[in-house]
Amino acid sequence: MKAELQAIQAEALEALKAVKTPDALESLRITYFGRRGKLTDVMKGMGKLSKEERPVIGKLANEVRATLTEAFEAATQTLHRQQQEQQLEEEAVDITLPGRKPTYGKAHPIMQTLERIEAIFGQMGFQVVTGPDVETEYYNFDALNTPVDHPARDLHDTFYLTDGRLLRTHTSPVQVRAMETQKPPIRIIVPGKCYRVDYDISHTPMFHHVEGLLVDTRATFSELKGVLTSFARQMFGDKTQMRFRPHFFPFTEPSAEMDISCAVCQGKGCRSCGGTGWVEILGAGAVDPAVFEAVDYDPDQVTGFAFGMGVERIANLQFRIPDIRTLYENDLRFLRQF
Ligand code: PHE
Repeated sequence: MKAELQAIQAEALEALKAVKTPDALESLRITYFGRRGKLTDVMKGMGKLSKEERPVIGKLANEVRATLTEAFEAATQTLHRQQQEQQLEEEAVDITLPGRKPTYGKAHPIMQTLERIEAIFGQMGFQVVTGPDVETEYYNFDALNTPVDHPARDLHDTFYLTDGRLLRTHTSPVQVRAMETQKPPIRIIVPGKCYRVDYDISHTPMFHHVEGLLVDTRATFSELKGVLTSFARQMFGDKTQMRFRPHFFPFTEPSAEMDISCAVCQGKGCRSCGGTGWVEILGAGAVDPAVFEAVDYDPDQVTGFAFGMGVERIANLQFRIPDIRTLYENDLRFLRQF
């Protein structure tokens, strides 16, 4: 029995050296200390020993058990430490690697241009007013002197909703809403999204307008020209040339379109201006008396002027973007240039 105990100790110590995982260690523990374990078996056999042998073997058995318990304990700790070291190694962070720079968002070129337009008119005392994208025919057309049978209705290819309402084709309806709720003097600009059935190099079905309205007891056409000239020079530079061409809008009389000398070629003629040296940037005119009547203003007491421009067109000229559609493709390589 003595030899047996010594063999068990030697065998167990040898086996412990080969243990690499907690699972293997646990099954080895069961092999010796378990209910049917080798050491347990020997202890159970003690009862059969003679009176003389029992204390001697008992002492040895206790020593073997203590030795093995300690060895198992040590092995457990070694395994634990190895595991920790392995984990540290696997999760190591290389602090010498360069960091990742945070990326910052910024305003879309359309918004940059819109903010600039608002700032310029803001300086001249115009307040920003907004209104709904979904409009009634009344505000988009009728109140703007464009009744159903008016040929000018066909100028706008309109998106109609099934309930008879529509997506506004310009932001002029907000001017009507403003006049309904305020008394003159009025000095506002109306930025916002507009919608028309259109899609090519210079049109997208959704686009942005800024329209302006000034109503007072004596607002003159020359004042209108002054305001627009000041705007164009601040927007496109002091050397910018302007010209006004007679035009037609149902809600203004007289009406004009304003061209500026091409910002891309300085008026020499290029692809952007179709070789003419001029580009049209806005429509304008004196408010038609019929519009004043629609909002219960007395056309004999007040006069006014209005203007409207497409923000995409202005952005294209400002940033020299040849195709308006690229503004809406959201290609970051394109957007990051502004
Ligand atoms: N609303 C016009 C358009 O749709 C622009 C405009 C506004 C013209 C005000 C004259 C006066 O293009």
